[in-house]
Amino acid sequence: MNPPTGHAVPPTFDVHLHDDWRMRALVDEVRSGLTSAPKQLTPRWLYDDRGSELFDQITRLPEYYPTEAEREILLARAGEIARRTGADTLVELGSGTSDKTRALLDAFEATGRLRRFVPFDVSEQTLRYAASVLADRHPGLHVHGVVGDFHEHLGDVPNDGVPVLAFLGSTIGNFYPSERARFFDEVADWMTDEAWFLLGVDLVKPVDRLMAAYNDAAGITARFTINLLDVLNGELAADFDPSGFEHVGLWDPIHTRVDLRLRSLRDQHVSIIGADLEVEFGDGEELKVEISTKFTREQIAGELDDAGIAVEQFWTDSGGDVAVLLARRAG
Ligand code: AVJ
Repeated sequence: MNPPTGHAVPPTFDVHLHDDWRMRALVDEVRSGLTSAPKQLTPRWLYDDRGSELFDQITRLPEYYPTEAEREILLARAGEIARRTGADTLVELGSGTSDKTRALLDAFEATGRLRRFVPFDVSEQTLRYAASVLADRHPGLHVHGVVGDFHEHLGDVPNDGVPVLAFLGSTIGNFYPSERARFFDEVADWMTDEAWFLLGVDLVKPVDRLMAAYNDAAGITARFTINLLDVLNGELAADFDPSGFEHVGLWDPIHTRVDLRLRSLRDQHVSIIGADLEVEFGDGEELKVEISTKFTREQIAGELDDAGIAVEQFWTDSGGDVAVLLARRAG
């Protein structure tokens, strides 16, 4: 039970990533990703302050359905999830400002069992802010922030008691198949017999709706991907000309994923001083910046099954656009 004092429990933090980590990872990735064919970077660099603000605008676009659709499911099912799991700990991977979690936290607290919230994020600053807001809002809840990378530090997330590991917002869609398989194996290793996994995925749907969602009429998604060049200019003293590139959103039917790229509008040379690198872009050459994989129920359940994780519940929104699934370690 929560202490009945009503006093806020001070948040605690485990920091696995230090300031120099981000810069080293960026330099390594730029050196390998911009010298390979095709050129490619991971989506993590899209989410600086400006990129996070642009993504927030994307979530409010009329064409972009995933955020609202997932919220609909969580609002409808939070109480059921809380009762079914009896969780005393909620872990949220890639928590950001923890907006998505609000409905879950409220429902879990209503069961009287919740003691601990473990937001996990790469950004220490975002995490400290979210933790202080939540600790004030939920007196008696121990907020234990973990600053880490979910490809590396999942094993450091506490798994005692009855934890629910939530990975929402279709972020899994950003992973390539091999990363996804590795990640599910790590989740399975982390899970005890008491633990639950709550996963949000986007579902396969007609291509015109997907294309609209990732090539919106107002051009916000284009600003979001092109902002990557400003990130590189700012962090690595590079001289990308953002007006020399255009946003491209393609549907890849083989891998059932949206593929977002930046296409060079001319032959151009870029200096990236912070990575000690000179790069040529040909006219029409593309830089891959993000994938957004769409799943069928069979596909995602099969991949989890391969990792030894069994889907117990599969909920969709009323439009059938996205799904949230609740899973346990396979017995
Ligand atoms: C934050 C990864 C869920 O894939 O839909 C939206 C990112 N990129 N529009 C997604 C994104 C362009 C988004 N996720």
